[in-house]
Amino acid sequence: MKPEKQYPSEVYLNGKWLKHDEAFVSVFDRAFMFGDGIYEVTPFYSGKPFLLKEHLKRLKYCLDEIQIKFDPFALQETMLEAISRAGLNEADAAVYIQVSRGAATRSHFVPEKIETTVLLYAFPVTLKGFEKKSWEVMATEDKRWHRCDIKSTALLANVMANEEAIAAGFAENLLVRKGYFTEGSHSSLFFVKYGVVHTHPEGQKILSGITRAEVINICTDLNIKVVEKAVHIDELVEVEEIFVTGTTTQIIPISSITHKNKKVYTARKDSVTKKLQEIFIKRTREKLT
Ligand code: PDD
Repeated sequence: MKPEKQYPSEVYLNGKWLKHDEAFVSVFDRAFMFGDGIYEVTPFYSGKPFLLKEHLKRLKYCLDEIQIKFDPFALQETMLEAISRAGLNEADAAVYIQVSRGAATRSHFVPEKIETTVLLYAFPVTLKGFEKKSWEVMATEDKRWHRCDIKSTALLANVMANEEAIAAGFAENLLVRKGYFTEGSHSSLFFVKYGVVHTHPEGQKILSGITRAEVINICTDLNIKVVEKAVHIDELVEVEEIFVTGTTTQIIPISSITHKNKKVYTARKDSVTKKLQEIFIKRTREKLT
C-alpha cells in the first residue's frame, strides 16, 4: 500500500512564505539538474523539536562535505514558524529542509557566485510505535553510491529499492553490500543476536541516523550491549529480533525478510524491540530539546 501525502498549504522558499502551488524554483536549479542539494527531516512532538541540534549538526556536516556554504542553525525560528503556520503546535509533525546549491547555467563546474535555494515546510507525522505493527520486508543489493553518509537529495537508488519492495508487497527494502546488511532504503537497521544489539558502524556506507544514535543511547541506559559491526546475511540464523529506525519510522519490528524470493528470516522474539519502543516513545514526550 502506498501512503499518499498531502501538499503542505504553505512553504518557506528563499525567505518568503508562499502557497505550495505558487512556490517555484528555476529549471536551472542544480538540485533539479544534478541532485546537487542536501535535505533534512526533523521531528516535532506535540509541536516541540526532538533532537533538533543533532539534526541541524548533521545538515551542517553534509553541507560542508559538498561545500555549500550555509548555516542551518539560522533556520531554527523558521522551523518553529512552519509548525505554527501549519497548525501543528499540538500535534506530532516533522519539518523538511532542503538546501540546494542554487541555479546556474548547466555545467559540472560550480560557479563561484551562486545563491543557495532554501525550501522548508512542516507536515504531520503519526507515532508509529503506538500502532504495534511489524513490517515484512525484502533484502536486495545496495546499489547506492559510496557516500551514503551524505543526506543528498539524489535519492534515485533509494527510491528504486523502495519501489521494488512496495511492488512486491513489502514495506521496506534492506540493503546488502558484499553480503553485509547496511541499512534500509529509508531507515537505519538493527539486529538482536544473543541479546546483543548489532548495527552497521557509522561511516560512508550508511547515513548516521539520528534515531539510530538515540536508540544506541537508550540501549546504553538500559545496560543492553551494542556492537557497531555489520551483520552478514548468513548470520540471520542466529538473529532473534530485527528492527528499523528513522525520524518518520520511529522503531518498527521486522517480522520477516525475503531475499531472492526465499524467506531467509522470521522473527523469533520481540522483547528488546518492544522495550526500546516503549522508552523511545517516553523520550519523545520528555526530551524535547
Ligand atoms: N530518512 N537511512 C536512510 C537511508 C534514511 O533515508 C533515513 C531517514 C534513515 C534514518 O535517519 P534518521 O533517524 O536521522 O531519520 C537512515 C528520512 C526520514 C527521509 O528520507 O525522509
